[in-house]
Amino acid sequence: MEKTIAVLPGDGIGPEIVREAKKVLVAIEKKFNHKFKFTEGTIGAHAIDICGEPFPNETHDLCMNTDAVLFGAIGDLKYDNDPKAKVRPEQGLLKMRKELGLYANLRPVMAIPGLIEKSPLKNHLIEGVDFMVVRELTGGIYFGEPRGRAEDGRKAFDSNVYTVDEIERISRKAFEFARNRNKKLTAVDKANVLATSRLWRETIQELHKEYKDVELEFMFVDNAAMQIIQNPKQFDVIVTENMFGDILTDEASVITGSIGLLPSASLGVHTSVYEPIHGSFPQATGQNIANPLATILSAAMLLEYSFGLFEEAKTIKEAVDKSLEAGIVTQDLSANNYYNTSEIGRWVSDYILGDL
Ligand code: IPM
Ligand code: MG
Repeated sequence: MEKTIAVLPGDGIGPEIVREAKKVLVAIEKKFNHKFKFTEGTIGAHAIDICGEPFPNETHDLCMNTDAVLFGAIGDLKYDNDPKAKVRPEQGLLKMRKELGLYANLRPVMAIPGLIEKSPLKNHLIEGVDFMVVRELTGGIYFGEPRGRAEDGRKAFDSNVYTVDEIERISRKAFEFARNRNKKLTAVDKANVLATSRLWRETIQELHKEYKDVELEFMFVDNAAMQIIQNPKQFDVIVTENMFGDILTDEASVITGSIGLLPSASLGVHTSVYEPIHGSFPQATGQNIANPLATILSAAMLLEYSFGLFEEAKTIKEAVDKSLEAGIVTQDLSANNYYNTSEIGRWVSDYILGDL
């Protein structure tokens, strides 16, 4: 198979982790006789430094004209500490999501057998956990208008806005995933307070008529935050709005033992984007210590969802499991006996090529 992949390393540890994921994709290319053509683009603080824009037109065009996008991370301390900055790196990520129409963000959460001990949660609670968060990604409070500051600067506001169409398309995806998994969908909202959440409920209830084989339940987000820690095995597919999904998936990463392990796929109208759920970890930049596995697993999702290469995706996941079993892990998973970022990438690709 011949395919093109746009690679957007971004900021902080982005270039280091993306390099390893690319290494793994090259191993897959060799083993299975495919041809992947990688083209690099700029985004985030890196792009602002080069051209003043966090998501330049060239990067937009690159993404629109490729078969899939592999993305690293975005964010830089110099902007975090400057709330008055006019352009922010994160705007690049949001712009990319909006312009590519990436409304469905899939974030699988799984207990990994070799790592159960690493989670601060009790083993019996997390053994066998396997659910998927379907996060809405192009609406809600991240994008709603009006937003901004009052003229005197002493008041600020954001708007949480959702249309029936936006709710329906993401919920349809979630119902479809549930139908192909264990047929249970939990819709997380704050319908006791928010008008948008009540519209979500109404729309999902209506849509449920087409998915009678899927069990549907509603859960308030504050309760869901507790249930994810207290009894995570109850979940199969969770669907929720942009902001709740952002928060709940960081929380859910505690189940796997490290946020450095959670991949994601963003699907929608145009080219799909694959990225780790974690941020740019600026403190670790250039030190070769960041965990590349979330990005490597995102590359596996890319093969599966964009190219339909299931066997190849499985090969990556298996190699990652083996590396964890063998204790070939970064600092976040083993404080004393650890390997660096590039050693993990090399081990996983050597394993794939049968060179170990
Ligand atoms: C994520 C990140 C982003 C988000 C930030 C970097 C804008 O936290 O992908 O979860 O809030 O969506
Ligand atoms: Mg987040």
